[in-house]
Amino acid sequence: MIVILIGYMGSGKSSIGKRMARKTKMKVIDLDDFIVEKENMTVPQIFENKGEVYFRKKEREYLKQLLQASENIIISVGGGTPCYGDNMEEILKSTPNVFYLKASVETLTKRLKKKKEERPLIKNIANDDLQDFIRKHLFERNFYYMQSHQIIDVDDISRKKAVKKIIKQLS
Ligand code: S3P
Repeated sequence: MIVILIGYMGSGKSSIGKRMARKTKMKVIDLDDFIVEKENMTVPQIFENKGEVYFRKKEREYLKQLLQASENIIISVGGGTPCYGDNMEEILKSTPNVFYLKASVETLTKRLKKKKEERPLIKNIANDDLQDFIRKHLFERNFYYMQSHQIIDVDDISRKKAVKKIIKQLS
């Protein structure tokens, strides 16, 4: 079984994935971590030294590798992963368990204000402009995110509760 967690930056994909793995004893892989390990550079370093196009190329390549898995695995992908090339198509083809962790613009803004540094796409956006940026960006990305099989509203629930909901909706 493959479970895929998608959602905007700051929606809790990685931490919910890890918690779910502990609970289910499934293996978990975070696509960003996988890229970092394979490329031997952090995500900001890849963006800085090689550019976003290179990052997206590698993201796509490693995503495809991970989707070949035959074991029980939870994959948390990057916020942009479903939105490039045919990634979302490939994701949807690989499993009936694609979950969109949906957070509001307000929640995301609050969370990301504290975590901009490690995220090249928002690093240089002033805190005062962040909410508008996220609103527009999310609007564009929603087209992809909303194709998920299940939507989990993560605004007002704990990570523990989110994991419970995901497990309940597995097919
Ligand atoms: C990105 C999200 C990041 C990372 C990269 C680009 C995006 O992952 O892949 O900085 O395009 O939204 P997280 O969603 O895990 O922060």
